[in-house]
Amino acid sequence: MEYNYSERMANLNGAATREILKLLTRPEIISFAGGFPATQCLPQKEVQQIAYELLAEGRATDALQYGTTEGFVPLRNQLIEYVKDTGIYNVELDQTLVLSGGQQGIDLMSKIFINPGDVVLVENPTYLTALQIFQSYQAKIVGVNSGKDGLDIEDLENKIIQYKPKMLYVVPTFSNPTGKVYSVANRKQIVSLTAKYNVMVLEDDPYSKLRFEGEPVPALKSFDTEGNVVYVTSFSKVLAPGLRVAVAIGSKEVIRKLTIGKQGVDVSTSNLSQLIVCEYLKRGYLFPNIEKSLPIYRERKNAMIDAINKYMPEEYKYVNAEGGLFIWGEFDAPINTVTLAVEAIKHDVAYIQGQVFYHDGGGLNTMRLNFSNATPERIDLGVHRLGDMFKAEIAKIK
Ligand SMILES: Cc1ncc(COP(=O)(O)O)c(C=O)c1O
Repeated sequence: MEYNYSERMANLNGAATREILKLLTRPEIISFAGGFPATQCLPQKEVQQIAYELLAEGRATDALQYGTTEGFVPLRNQLIEYVKDTGIYNVELDQTLVLSGGQQGIDLMSKIFINPGDVVLVENPTYLTALQIFQSYQAKIVGVNSGKDGLDIEDLENKIIQYKPKMLYVVPTFSNPTGKVYSVANRKQIVSLTAKYNVMVLEDDPYSKLRFEGEPVPALKSFDTEGNVVYVTSFSKVLAPGLRVAVAIGSKEVIRKLTIGKQGVDVSTSNLSQLIVCEYLKRGYLFPNIEKSLPIYRERKNAMIDAINKYMPEEYKYVNAEGGLFIWGEFDAPINTVTLAVEAIKHDVAYIQGQVFYHDGGGLNTMRLNFSNATPERIDLGVHRLGDMFKAEIAKIK
């Protein structure tokens, strides 16, 4: 059978990260590749208890039935409270849409705004799967220059004028892959510039609660007065990715369109998952669990930084993130991290080659390391192996 796939799938391969993750079934491999929360941070007992009670208390009809596409109202009310923490106030119920994971927000925003050939602006590098989603809607992806405080505002304005983009996609707090946090001033400039030129902004925020150091920064959405920012935050990294619950906050009109878009995808987010998250929030479990998780992540991040300082060649320059799940770095030498990712697996270590986060194929000398899912001892061992491999490569070049 010759399969005649749609044009939108023509240039799409499986996400490189997912392909690498498939190679990682051997237990001896130390993986710095994924973006998984630490297993011990998943609140198994609490979720088990809540699920048991929900089903035992005769609430199975809520939990096991179809739900409305917008989401379970008591959960949406909880979420209105939850986002106040990021400076987002005065949200009304019909400005919220419960999503089946944050990634669904990227897909639905593309579905309602992007025609083939429309331009989406992104930071370069940015979240790999977002790039794939934009490609699947046949968007033209254009990178905006950035520095350590966020997007280069002059470049953003030039690109807006030149390309008339439909949307800007950003992960402004502990970005995946770079771990960067945009400054408050940068956030305000992004919001006012995009509002001035009528550009939608998708603010993707799965990581801001995973802060081990420094002061929290308000969401871009908190500066939005024109309704051009849609804020998406997910419970994947702070509660459990298996529940697949996230929320989009936007203007009533955009949320309505997103809701229509979602109707045809999954009818609604799993009611059982929504009720579990709702109850979890209501019982006040979330913040204590995050408080319990942060020292584990901090310890692992510090173990990775120590190991990098000990074992990696001096040509490797990294970003010491104040939160999130990743250490991003690049080699000040012509090191090809794409070919070496395969070599690393032979040494029983996995990382993600940074190139996959560049829409233009750049970043051959970059690498993303995840620290959340390995113990400090295994982090030390894994980085030691990587350090030996990269030092040997650099010796060959010299
Ligand atoms: C920047 C970013 N956005 C979205 C997601 C998807 O998260 P979810 O599990 O909520 O779909 C991830 C997951 O790694 C991510 O890093």
